[in-house]
Amino acid sequence: MFSSVLLAAALFQAPIAIQGAVDTELGPLIEALGNPEPRDIQGFRFWEGRIHGTRVVVSRTEVGMVHAAMATTILNQEYGPRLIINQGTAGGVNPELRTGDIVLGRASVAFGSLRTTQRKRGDGIDIDSWEALPVLLREGNERVRYESFAADAALLRAALEVPYAGGQLVQGVVGSADQWNREVDKLLWAHEVYGIDSEDMESASVHQVAHIYGIPFLAIRIISNSEHHDSQFRPEVGTDCAKFTIEVVKALGVAH
Ligand code: 5AD
Repeated sequence: MFSSVLLAAALFQAPIAIQGAVDTELGPLIEALGNPEPRDIQGFRFWEGRIHGTRVVVSRTEVGMVHAAMATTILNQEYGPRLIINQGTAGGVNPELRTGDIVLGRASVAFGSLRTTQRKRGDGIDIDSWEALPVLLREGNERVRYESFAADAALLRAALEVPYAGGQLVQGVVGSADQWNREVDKLLWAHEVYGIDSEDMESASVHQVAHIYGIPFLAIRIISNSEHHDSQFRPEVGTDCAKFTIEVVKALGVAH
């Protein structure tokens, strides 16, 4: 009886969605699905299949916040996923993180959202006076302030239990913006003002869309470069992140 319930759950459950911005972040996932034919919608690509019996849809979001939001909106309308994992490479913002470490986002912050103080021509730029602007979401007649979006607690707990040998596996705050910051003082500022540990160009945008749709979300980001240590971008570690994500999917099984 119990096993037939599990079997029915595996067959009919809505899929888990796994996203990556570029092909290097997706290869092992598409392979794990058995290299199915992709489906293209408005230039965004999707692959459907199963990993260890669990229904999965893999989505290529392309790079950047607007692309990621759009890919996620299409994903939700077309596939109705039961949870969304956004994964891929990121830059180290917290000096304690090194290339190969994985950050599980207990929260996501769009750190490009800010207001400067007023300064006249020739007065220069004063980053220390910049103020973070929260996201305002319409909930009924209210506009509710969000300084960050929180990950699904059960999903985060499950991912923290998955073994990872390539570096540290930590929970942290993932930051996203249409930016690639290489100024160490700017990175330290973002760490201090927004509390972010890593920077990428998609997670927080996807998280906002997932939140609006009420879909549990987790960001899994591998450090591929850090101005604090090794500024060389190593996109190939994206493959390790995809492999780790496959292990997370296996650990989740049909229970989540
Ligand atoms: N800053 C911003 N995005 C980064 N990425 C990897 N490292 C960084 C970084 N230091 C990711 C982004 C984007 C692609 C260019 O790589 O998420 O998808």
